[in-house]
Amino acid sequence: MSTDVTTAQNIDTLFLEQRRYPPPPEFAAQANAQPDIYDTDLETFWAREARARLSWFKDFDTVLEWKPPYAKWFLGGKLNIAYNCVDRHVEQGRGDKVAYFWEGEPEDDRKEITFAQLQRDVVRFANVLKALGVKKGTPVGIYMGMIPELPVAMLACTRIGAPFTVVFGGFSADSLSGRLNDMECELLITQDEGWRRGNRVSLKATADAAMAQAPTVKSALVVRRTGGNVAWEDNRDHWYHNHAGEVSDDPASCPCEAMDSEDLLYLLYTSGTTAKPKGIVHTTAGYLTGVSTTHHYIFDVKPDSVYRCAADIGWVTGHSYIVFGPLCNGTTGVIYEGTPDFPDKDRWWSIIERYKVDILYCAPTAIRTHMKWGPEYAERHDLSSLRLLGTVGEPINPEAWIWYRDHVGGGRTPVVDTWWQTETGAIMITPLPGITTLKPGSATKPFPTIDPVVLDEQGNEVPAGQGGYLAIRKPWPSMLRGIHKAHDRYVETYWSKYKDMYFVGDGARVDEDGDYWLLGRVDDVMNVSAHRISTIEVESALVDHPKVAEAAVCGRSDPQTGQAIVAFVTLKGGDPGSPAMARELRDHVGKRIGKIASPANIVFTPELPKTRSGKIMRRLLRDVAENRPLGDTTTLADAAVVDEISRRAKEDSGKDEG
Ligand code: WTA
Repeated sequence: MSTDVTTAQNIDTLFLEQRRYPPPPEFAAQANAQPDIYDTDLETFWAREARARLSWFKDFDTVLEWKPPYAKWFLGGKLNIAYNCVDRHVEQGRGDKVAYFWEGEPEDDRKEITFAQLQRDVVRFANVLKALGVKKGTPVGIYMGMIPELPVAMLACTRIGAPFTVVFGGFSADSLSGRLNDMECELLITQDEGWRRGNRVSLKATADAAMAQAPTVKSALVVRRTGGNVAWEDNRDHWYHNHAGEVSDDPASCPCEAMDSEDLLYLLYTSGTTAKPKGIVHTTAGYLTGVSTTHHYIFDVKPDSVYRCAADIGWVTGHSYIVFGPLCNGTTGVIYEGTPDFPDKDRWWSIIERYKVDILYCAPTAIRTHMKWGPEYAERHDLSSLRLLGTVGEPINPEAWIWYRDHVGGGRTPVVDTWWQTETGAIMITPLPGITTLKPGSATKPFPTIDPVVLDEQGNEVPAGQGGYLAIRKPWPSMLRGIHKAHDRYVETYWSKYKDMYFVGDGARVDEDGDYWLLGRVDDVMNVSAHRISTIEVESALVDHPKVAEAAVCGRSDPQTGQAIVAFVTLKGGDPGSPAMARELRDHVGKRIGKIASPANIVFTPELPKTRSGKIMRRLLRDVAENRPLGDTTTLADAAVVDEISRRAKEDSGKDEG
């Protein structure tokens, strides 16, 4: 693990950031979160929110049981997530309210799904799952694009108490099968194809390749999206539409299963510092309380809000802030299937205008893409409905923050930079828009009751202004409940560096006002376009290619994607490499993991720089990748290697094959 926290991001620009944005008085006056929100203690706060925000079949009797490193929340309680997200809104007379405005990528492909319709869709889907043998406790895999049936499938699983894992639709067959095998999924829900920048992407074909390596999967339920041709295995594959006609959509035909607070809700796999992704465990009541509470206060959601989170549901942001948080709060959301530049670069803004979106939540990398395209696309549309903007997934550079506020928010809207992780389940460090004075580039303050601290290597709290490791001292309801089938790895990754504190894996600095500045990962995890990718995962994909002898991977900063992946590769038999070979390796990594993990640069080198004990000198490679002057090379087994790498890295730059 790197100990050089300050290399994670250019700390100097952040030090110079002096701009301050206090909340507009009108916003502050009407805000869901008022200053006294910070006054309540941990258990009182969350017990109050859990009872106010969720409907319980049976009230809980214990708020928190904390036996580090495992927390249990709301013990004794019984509830159902689909009931909270859907049924109760209908029962309380809000059946006609829109739950989702959905837009397919092909224009004019639109749907308005009310809560009443969503309830029927979920019941029908759940009945089909039951007909295919899914019961309470049956693990289900989901591999889909951004179509309405994706949240419906997730909710249907929760209705019958089947834990699920959603795998992002851009992941490869190997990535998918790895997850299906780890969770021992018995059924996979997928779709024929999806739309992406005007092209059809076959999800079923990838799912087929994955299922060939996933023996526990006995059946596939396939939603028809494009109507394109797909291969079919009669005794395994089922068209959703064939079964849907045969089951009821009456809620009474499929009652919501009463789940225990701590029953498994879902696993979501995320990159760690080994080649094998970790199945992060989230359970029922604490998770739903955490996401609905944060969604309410941080996004200042009102009953008539039209809220848009631009993430993919395949990532945690989509789970927490497209599906469970907003639906639990009865919020109207907007889901869009495709890319932001189809048919033109103003697609996002046309969506904001059409539905009069008042809250927009997206990643800094998306903002930087829009910056690059220019403000004229946003200017074509009336964005005056926007009241609040949010960001997530990576540190935001002040320039992007200001651009977002000015060109999207019309210079009026607060911008909430929200820090959290797959593991934390919900937002942890964030402004509250009616309370917090904003600083571009800072996630500002811990959410009420969240107790972070910045420590040095020895576990001492570092003084204001100094970088260190972020840790969290007290438990919180939506925290992970472990790594699936990997207790030791859970302890080792999160709980061994500091005693009884959650080790985050990010560097941070707290300024003299108590505001947090996140400094990026301190482990071997890269952040590319707000997606976590492990260096070691990419390295194993590379060395898995028959011509590769050795590979080392690191991130370099990239103006658009945050970080970009650089791979240093030694080929077998002294092969010097070629642009064609680089292309082949990129494809190979794309097939092994997914396109998001394809290296932006591949540097062929006769040898990798190593210490005398044979460890690859990653810090040196990072220096090369960042075009920085090289550090001390005396511990290198062969100092000449570094010059060679340096020379080749310079040659490579500018001829990126993309
Ligand atoms: C990074 C995404 C700075 C961080 C919700 C974290 C951020 C990782 C921010 C988690 C932010 C997320 N400022 N860095 N506002 N939000 N990160 O699990 O490095 O996909 O550890 O969850 O993203 O990524 P994950």
